[in-house]
Amino acid sequence: MTIRIILPLLLTALALPARADSYALPKNPAFEEECASCHIAYPPQMLHADSWREMMGGLSRHFGSDASLDEKRRSAITDFLVAHSGGRKTGDTRDARGKPLLRITETARFNRKHVEIDAATWKRASIKSPANCTACHAQAAAGDYNERSIRIPK
Ligand code: HEC
Ligand code: HEC
Repeated sequence: MTIRIILPLLLTALALPARADSYALPKNPAFEEECASCHIAYPPQMLHADSWREMMGGLSRHFGSDASLDEKRRSAITDFLVAHSGGRKTGDTRDARGKPLLRITETARFNRKHVEIDAATWKRASIKSPANCTACHAQAAAGDYNERSIRIPK
């Protein structure tokens, strides 16, 4: 192969990990209506399919809230989340007892991306919870977690 063939191939290979990191929100009206009222629409790509199935099977006890839906909506949103789920890319997907993790903020991938943030920072009044992505990622509601739009509030 000549350099003119090899170089573009190399550049394509280098660009792949960046694309795999995209959390652009796939369009889905039911998901936007039902899953973005109490918090932002979390990207389906950030949890394993098993985690979404488990969560969608227990919406009446959803992190201390009742997020129940009628069966038609519940199963349509479950199908959507599973179709766009992150699979093994999310890192560890089960807890020590083998149960699927229900929080993005407990996945290995999340923790790897946030190692530099200490416990005191997570608890600041301006942040409150690691689940409050928008506190630091200004464009999180649009599925944009790019480093350029990160600002940690005081
Ligand atoms: C009635 C309010 C309410 C609705 C509706 C709701 N949630 Fe939640 N959700 C919560 C609360 C409260 C938490 C916990 C937030 C925290 O720990 O700060 C949460 C947490 C989560 C988390 C975990 C965040 C983390 O820590 O990684 C996911 C994922 C999630 N919700 C998905 C959904 C999906 C999918 C739907 C739609 C089917 C939905 N939520 C609808 C209230 C709601
Ligand atoms: C206290 C502020 C803070 C909160 C809250 C927070 N993050 Fe982050 N996040 C950061 C910082 C800082 C980085 C950049 C780390 C680095 O550059 O090494 C980051 C990086 C990321 C990245 C990697 C971005 C990239 O381009 O590689 C993703 C994805 C991400 N966060 C998702 C989330 C999600 C999802 C939530 C909510 C469930 C969240 N973050 C909550 C501060 C925060």
